[in-house]
Amino acid sequence: MNILLVGSGGREHALAWKIAQSPLCARLVCAPGNPGMEALGERRDLKATDAEGLAALAREIRADLVVVGPESALEAGLADRLAAAGIPCFGPTAKAAQLETSKAFSKNFLERHDIPTAGYGVYDRAADAKAALSVFKPPYVIKADGLAAGKGVAISPDKADAEAEIDRMLGGRFGAAGARVVIEEFMDGEEGSLFALCDGQRAVLLGGAQDHKRAFDGDLGPNTGGMGAYSPAPVFTPELVEQADARIVQPTIKAMAAEGMPYRGVLYAGLMATEAGPRVVEFNARFGDPECQVLMMRIAGDIVPYLLACARGDVSGLPPLEFHPQTVICVVLAAKGYPDSPLEGSIIRGASQDFGPDVQVFHAGTTRRKDGQLCAAGGRVLNVCARGDDIRQARERAYAAIRRIDWPGGFHRTDIGWRAVERETAEEA
Ligand code: AMP
Ligand code: GLY
Repeated sequence: MNILLVGSGGREHALAWKIAQSPLCARLVCAPGNPGMEALGERRDLKATDAEGLAALAREIRADLVVVGPESALEAGLADRLAAAGIPCFGPTAKAAQLETSKAFSKNFLERHDIPTAGYGVYDRAADAKAALSVFKPPYVIKADGLAAGKGVAISPDKADAEAEIDRMLGGRFGAAGARVVIEEFMDGEEGSLFALCDGQRAVLLGGAQDHKRAFDGDLGPNTGGMGAYSPAPVFTPELVEQADARIVQPTIKAMAAEGMPYRGVLYAGLMATEAGPRVVEFNARFGDPECQVLMMRIAGDIVPYLLACARGDVSGLPPLEFHPQTVICVVLAAKGYPDSPLEGSIIRGASQDFGPDVQVFHAGTTRRKDGQLCAAGGRVLNVCARGDDIRQARERAYAAIRRIDWPGGFHRTDIGWRAVERETAEEA
C-alpha cells in the first residue's frame, strides 16, 4: 500500500514509526514530516492546511490511504477533498470535525443527544456573556469557540477575572476563533482522555491516557499543548471505561451518523471522572499529542488494517487489536521559553543514539542544518517515550534516556506520571 501521512509533530513521527512497521506499507510519504521521519519514509514540503496540494499529492503517489494528524488539515477540508477523489482518509470531514473545531457546535450536539457534559451557554456579545455569569458559580470556565492551539480556555476564580477574560476573547485575542465564547459549569474530578477508532457507524476503543498540560513541575505555569503523557491511566477503571463507552463514545458516533455527518477517524474524548460518572470536557477530532506517542508504543499488533478499515467505513470484520501489557510514558523536551517564546536554533546532540528496545525518541519541532546538525525549530521539540512493567520503571527509563541527550537549550518536567506513581505507591502501602 502507498500511505500518505499528514503532519509534522511528535504525534506524526509516532504514527509514521508504527505505520512503517506494517507489512502492508510499501511506501510511506510524510507531508511535511520532520527530520525524525526521514528514515521511515519520503518527505514532501506541503503545509497541513494545503488541502488542495495534499489531495493532489495523494493522487500523484496513488495513495491507498491518507492518515491525517493535525486538526488544522481537517478544518481545511482535506477529508472532504479526498472523499471527492475516492481516496480513503483516516480523519473526519470538516463538518464532522466540528466536534473539535467549534466548541459551540460540540456543546449543542452533546445537549441535543443528552450526552453527559457541563452545563453551558454560548454568547457573541460581551454584555450577554457577563450577565450570564450570575447563573454560574465560581470558578468560571470561559472558552473561545474555535481552534486556539489549546490556549483558548480560561478558568477564572472570580467575576472580575471572568469579565476580563470575556473582554479579551471577544476583543480579538484569538481572532475569528474568539468571535463567540462558551461559558461552562466547572466540573470537579480527575481528567483523562479516551481514544476510539471510528468508521462512521462503529467505534472501537483504543484505550485511555493522561497528559500534563501545564509547563512546569507540580502542574504549575502556563497551559501548553502537553508536556508529557502516559497510558494506561489508572483513572480509567474498567467501570469508568464501560460507562464512557456506553454513555459517551457510542452515542456520539451513532448521533453523528444519524445527523448526516458520519465520523471517521479517531475520536479523542477528554473526560472528567466526576462523582456522577464520566462527563465530556471536550472532543478532539484527531489523536492527542503526546497521547498518540504512548498509544502507538502500547499497540502490539498492526495498526494499518484498522486505519484503512476506518477510512473505508467498516471495522466490523477485524480481530481485536493487541496491546503490550506494559505502561508507556512520554516526556516532552521543549525549547526554553516555551510556550510563550521558544528559543529556536539551539543544537541537540545524542537524540539518535540507540536507547534500547524499550525507549523511542520521537521528533516534533526539530530541523537539520545544512551541516547535518540537529537543532530546535519549535516549542515542543523531542518526545522521549519508554515502556516499563509499571509507571515507575517506565519513568526511570525515560529520564535515564533524557540524561543521555545533550541539549542545553531545552527543558522538561521531572514529574510526568505523578498521579499514577502516587496511586501505585498508595496501593502498595
Ligand atoms: P479544553 O480545551 O476544553 O479541553 O479545556 C482545557 C482544560 O481546561 C481542560 O483540560 C480542563 O482541565 C479545563 N476545563 C475545561 N472545561 C472545564 C470544565 N467545564 N470544568 C473544569 N475544568 C475544565
Ligand atoms: N495533548 C492534548 C492535545 O493533543 O490536545
